[in-house]
Amino acid sequence: MRMYDVIAKKRNGETLNEEEIRFMIDGYVKGEIPDYQMSAMLMAIYLNGMSDKETAVLTNQVAHSGDMVDLSPIQGIKVDKHSTGGVGDKTTLVVAPIVAACGVKVAKMSGRGLGHTGGTVDKMESIPGMRTTLTEEEFFQVVNATGLSVIGQSGNLAPADKKLYALRDVTATVESIPLIAASIMSKKLAAGSDCILLDVKTGSGAFMKTLEDSITLAEKMVAIGEHAGKKTMALITNMDIPLGSLIGNSLEVIEAAETLKGKGPEDLTEVCLQLASGMLYLAGKGSLDVCRGLAEKTIADGSALERLVAMVEAQGGDSSVIKNTSLFEKAPFKREVIAPKSGYITHMDTERCGIASSMLGAGRVTKESEIDYTAGIALLKKVGQSVVEGEVMAVLYTSREELFTASLEEFLSAVTIGDDKPVAEPLIYARIT
Ligand code: URA
Repeated sequence: MRMYDVIAKKRNGETLNEEEIRFMIDGYVKGEIPDYQMSAMLMAIYLNGMSDKETAVLTNQVAHSGDMVDLSPIQGIKVDKHSTGGVGDKTTLVVAPIVAACGVKVAKMSGRGLGHTGGTVDKMESIPGMRTTLTEEEFFQVVNATGLSVIGQSGNLAPADKKLYALRDVTATVESIPLIAASIMSKKLAAGSDCILLDVKTGSGAFMKTLEDSITLAEKMVAIGEHAGKKTMALITNMDIPLGSLIGNSLEVIEAAETLKGKGPEDLTEVCLQLASGMLYLAGKGSLDVCRGLAEKTIADGSALERLVAMVEAQGGDSSVIKNTSLFEKAPFKREVIAPKSGYITHMDTERCGIASSMLGAGRVTKESEIDYTAGIALLKKVGQSVVEGEVMAVLYTSREELFTASLEEFLSAVTIGDDKPVAEPLIYARIT
């Protein structure tokens, strides 16, 4: 078989068979197919799409390009979750402890920040001493002892995705529904859980900016998961506005811990309860209503917070900052963002809010950049709220004072103030099963 002919077939809009997809993924991982040929293939896929069957085969090949994690040493049903990425999205740190407190295991591998979006692993590393790299044995031990563990992706999990993702990033082929579906689901299948809850974000802070694309992506991912024998469900959730009030690494851990204490913002609490109910439902804990009740109870009785504390301690972290979030190290510099005029906040370009936080030091400029865990933004006003000229709308935090000017400009350009109160958008748009 020649890669040239496989590229030509996809370029002409034809459907690739299993043998051809296996040939290209195997060859690419082994270095026998060069980047320039794979780039041409990715662009052909981007332009001509892939059938559901092709996407499922691609996902399977990418998943099997590395280790398939065997979670059988962990007793009971294991349920995973995945967010397609957003701003202020600290849901894993709330949802995983809730689910664990209900007796369902969460053995989760998470990612780092990507572009304007934050990553759970970076957030966890803002907790002093917290380890996010564990051996497989330690990972299993922590889950068996505490009900949950969240770590970074192991080195050999879907290595084909690592290579393909890096290539997509520089060939303008990231925003392809079949490629995103295969990228996400390959990692979820390789990670070995029995059930998968997908949080597909939609709106200005998400990869998928339209509801229609988000639904298509969710449907494809659910079909792939079910086809692989995993119970899979997707929620389409609003990312047209940052989730919660705090953006940045330690700031988001603080908000997650406060949410587990029942003191979180309404939007974050609601999305977390819906995600947790979905995970418990997939794990067979009852109807969605029953699962919602179980999830709520773990916040009210403090058992979910106990799970988070137990996981932090088991992974070497200092749990005193979770119990008392005022003990978190604070950014040495803060600057208030003043409303330039009176009116209602009608829109927040959420990608730009994420970029502003990243520019304060919460994200990486290059792969090697050091994160400023204390950096970020506290939103005092969000879409739908009124502001008076001169009022403080938000507070920016950083360890490097010189970063304020550019990030303030970015943040202000993200916020639109108008005369009319906007119609509230739903937090959850759809549930796809
Ligand atoms: N997240 C992934 O892991 N892959 C994509 O392609 C997009 C988001």
